[in-house]
Amino acid sequence: MKLLLENAHIEGIRYYDAYRKNGGYRAVEKALKMAPDDIVEEVKKSGLRGRGGAGFPTGMKWSFLAKPEGVPRHLVCNADESEPGTFKDRYLMEFLPHLFVEGLIISSFALGSNATYIYIRGEYAWIPDILEQAIAEAKANGWLGKNIMGSGFDCEIYVQRGAGAYICGEETALIESLEGKRGNPRIKPPFPAVQGLWMRPTVVNNVETIAAVVPIINMGGEEYGKIGVGRSTGTKLISACGNLKRPGVYEIPFDLSVEEFIFGDEWCQGMANGKRLKACIPGGSSVPILPANLLLKTAKGETRYMNYESLSDGGFQTGSMLGSGGFIVLDEDQCVVRHTMSLARFYKHESCGQCSPCREGTGWMYRILKKLEYGQGTSADIDLLWDIQRRIEGNTICPLGDAAAWPVAAAIRHFRDEFEWHVQHPEESQQRNFGLAHY
Ligand code: NAI
Ligand code: SF4
Repeated sequence: MKLLLENAHIEGIRYYDAYRKNGGYRAVEKALKMAPDDIVEEVKKSGLRGRGGAGFPTGMKWSFLAKPEGVPRHLVCNADESEPGTFKDRYLMEFLPHLFVEGLIISSFALGSNATYIYIRGEYAWIPDILEQAIAEAKANGWLGKNIMGSGFDCEIYVQRGAGAYICGEETALIESLEGKRGNPRIKPPFPAVQGLWMRPTVVNNVETIAAVVPIINMGGEEYGKIGVGRSTGTKLISACGNLKRPGVYEIPFDLSVEEFIFGDEWCQGMANGKRLKACIPGGSSVPILPANLLLKTAKGETRYMNYESLSDGGFQTGSMLGSGGFIVLDEDQCVVRHTMSLARFYKHESCGQCSPCREGTGWMYRILKKLEYGQGTSADIDLLWDIQRRIEGNTICPLGDAAAWPVAAAIRHFRDEFEWHVQHPEESQQRNFGLAHY
């Protein structure tokens, strides 16, 4: 069942006329006749969880929004999709911008946001124009601006480009950046729902979360909540990449097994070049890597499914997370040490530098991983690496510290033999890397 991408194949769906002809803006029409609190109630009933990665219940987040007398409230959409392996929001914004805008209008109405912001990553250089056009078309047809469709509700949507910093995807850093400051995360609490943009109550939601509000209003929260399994309701966009035969963006049902998703004809069609599946990071680079055996089945031997509960079964010892849906698949030829080094380099580069465990630890981990990968490490370095990641986790202002530590921990936990191989084969490690880009 497709709730978001159902019309993605329709010619011209990017533009207002085709979108409207195919049922677009029906949900806004319905929502504007409802009381804002009833819309929040529908979203609560739907069980929708934040699609940016944390999976926090959206309806609950909306109901936390403070409403002090006379203080404006804001909806800010986090379109700073920067998690390595994640590109599903890009697809939505590029091909279904009106679905996104429709979701923004409904959500703004429900939350009482007269000025709503989209903060989009700088590297998505061509997408702001697509969004601006969709916003202009919506406005020209009366869905934005003053007194929308006679409801008395005013709303404008503004698009703000980021400048290419991963940390600006962290909601409080995003808010700082939107205010024109350096994108340094704030200490939480207070959460944005109480003090966000310009210290006003603010809800920050991911693009896919906002788009999902449209089918929720169209079908009703209760019906939406019946789709899926357990606390994983609705559908989820997955961006599949790595050594797959057919990578891409898929809308999946939550009862799909991981095995079927990787090997099924309807989905990724197996490994590229007939290679063996070695490992996978199922939810974007920040979540733990899983070896093939723990990816397809849990430690209890049960089938692993593509949903929040099943992927995290076993905690971080034997499980991982659905996260942002960035599904990165590695084949037997990939080196986990090199892969982990590459991620460590990324986090070192993207750390904002506010807290010392993250600022110093990410660089330290990268230097040790580089030593190991290039055949200059010792077994003591592997132990040191383990020790450093443990000291970062839980000791920083924002989750970037944890996100840098978890991939290293999981790589050592599941692939220590590969780290040891580099220690025991220094010459081969050096030769293997001959000619490859030296990070
Ligand atoms: P979080 O769990 O701290 O918060 C989730 C959301 O719930 C936030 O909006 C927060 O303000 C809200 N919230 C939590 N408790 C609240 C309370 N008591 N009152 C009011 N609001 C409350 O997670 P966070 O830091 O927002 O996101 C971390 C996740 O982001 C990671 O798990 C990772 O998967 C994902 N991520 C996604 C990226 C992407 O490109 N899509 C990039 C980097 C990370
Ligand atoms: Fe900055 Fe890292 Fe601290 Fe986050 S954890 S605030 S990125 S130094």
